[in-house]
Amino acid sequence: MTLTFIPLTQVHAPLLDILERDAFGHEAWPKGAFDGLVGRGSFVGFLAQEGDEPVGYVLVQTVLDEAEILSIGIRPDRRGRGYGRTLLAHLLDTLAARHINAVYLEVRRTNDAAIRLYEQAGAEATGVRKRYYDPTPEKPYREDALTYRIALPKRPD
Ligand SMILES: CC(C)(COP(=O)(O)OP(=O)(O)OC[C@H]1O[C@@H](n2cnc3c(N)ncnc32)[C@H](O)[C@@H]1OP(=O)(O)O)[C@@H](O)C(=O)NCCC(=O)NCCS
Repeated sequence: MTLTFIPLTQVHAPLLDILERDAFGHEAWPKGAFDGLVGRGSFVGFLAQEGDEPVGYVLVQTVLDEAEILSIGIRPDRRGRGYGRTLLAHLLDTLAARHINAVYLEVRRTNDAAIRLYEQAGAEATGVRKRYYDPTPEKPYREDALTYRIALPKRPD
C-alpha cells in the first residue's frame, strides 16, 4: 500500500496524542503536548496515511540549518512494512530541500528497530548519554541514549 504524507498542522494535534500513545505507551508525551508545536515556524512534521487511515507521524524542530527529531512512530499493527523507512526518507528529502544540513536524534540503546531505521538512513553514531531515559514499567532502570547525526546532501539554491 502506498503511503501519503500530509504536512502536520494544529488540526492534527489530537490525532498525534493518540498515535504517540499507541507508539510509545508509558513513554508517550503527555496529552496536549503537541498543541502549540505542530504547524509552528520551526516545527516540521508529517502524518503518514495508508489510504485515509493514519499510520504514523514524524515531528522535528529546525534551528537554522540543523534539525532534531522530536518524535517518530508507526502504529504497532503497521510496523515492519517499510513505513518508518519511507516516512523518514520523505522527511529527510523535505529537510534537504529546505537547506537543512544535518539531523540530530537520540534513541534508547535497546531500541533495535529505531536504531536500524536510523542507520539505514545513513545515521552516524556521535555519542552516548549515560542513564538518560527515566525508568518505565517495562524497563525499570535508567537506560542510556545513543546519539546520532544524519548528514543531508547539499541542494542547489
Ligand atoms: C521505530 C519505528 C518507527 C520503525 O517503524 P517501522 O515501520 O516498523 O520500520 P520499517 O518497517 O520501515 O523498518 C525500518 C528498518 O528497521 C528494521 N526493523 C524493523 N523492526 C525491527 C525490529 N523489531 N528489530 C530490528 N530491526 C527492525 C527493518 O528491517 C528495516 O531495516 P532495513 O531497511 O535494513 O530492512 C517503529 O518501530 C515504532 O514506531 N517504534 C515505537 C516508537 C519509537 O521507538 N520511535 C523511535 C524513537 S527514537
